[in-house]
Amino acid sequence: MRILFVGDVFGEAGRDALFHGLYKIKKREKIDFCVVNGENSAKNGRGMSGRDARDIFESGADVITMGNHVWGCPEFEEYADRLSVLRPGNLGKNRPGRGFMRVDVAGTPLGVINIEGRAFIDPPGDSPFEFAEAAVEALRGAGVRVILVDIHAEATSEKKILAMFLDGRVSAVVGTHTHVQTADECVLDGGTAFITDVGMTGISRESVLGMGFKGVYERYALGRQARFEPLKAGTPEIDAVVIDVDEVTGKALTIKRIKETVTE
Ligand SMILES: [Fe+2]
Ligand SMILES: [Fe+2]
Repeated sequence: MRILFVGDVFGEAGRDALFHGLYKIKKREKIDFCVVNGENSAKNGRGMSGRDARDIFESGADVITMGNHVWGCPEFEEYADRLSVLRPGNLGKNRPGRGFMRVDVAGTPLGVINIEGRAFIDPPGDSPFEFAEAAVEALRGAGVRVILVDIHAEATSEKKILAMFLDGRVSAVVGTHTHVQTADECVLDGGTAFITDVGMTGISRESVLGMGFKGVYERYALGRQARFEPLKAGTPEIDAVVIDVDEVTGKALTIKRIKETVTE
């Protein structure tokens, strides 16, 4: 089975890039199942409205994962249980939304898990390891072997240790949140595909992780409480990984990075 995982979709430009580019990638790479991180897809880059979710599904996502910005759009609470949307399961125990789910892909059961790291991230959640353990056991206990984990975290070391902790029990552990694609993709010894960060979807080269120059400059260089504004114009790109998984064992065979400019 070929799985596509797309990095954080940022603002309107990110949703546009996805709309114009995702179906081409899915067709070319013969993708069976597609996960998209949508935590920054709202207009202001924080959270995801119901409309943004609809846009992302219409562009070709099967499941949407979130991250630390999950509470950015209050609407999340209204659609969280109706749509195939996940939020970090170790974040806000009693709040709406799910941290993992099972779907069927042409007869093969598949699990998706969304977790947030705890190092240098706000708001911090409960133990990512305890949540991962519980979610993986629930899915594997129900016979699911193809399992994808989105670890939304800042620290490279925290993502790697979670991947090593789950190696052999899940098909892939992919990092999100930093918006910078890393070149360390590999399949670990136990058969778990890993990358520290998938990257971002939207205007990347001309922006600061999706935001325009002004606000970020004012905060860092001048120490002002400046507002960050998503950059709307520039070169749209999609950052993603393609993972080949053996459907029977759930082990990953290959992982390949994609970083490409979207042309209409
Ligand atoms: Fe993000
Ligand atoms: Fe994030």
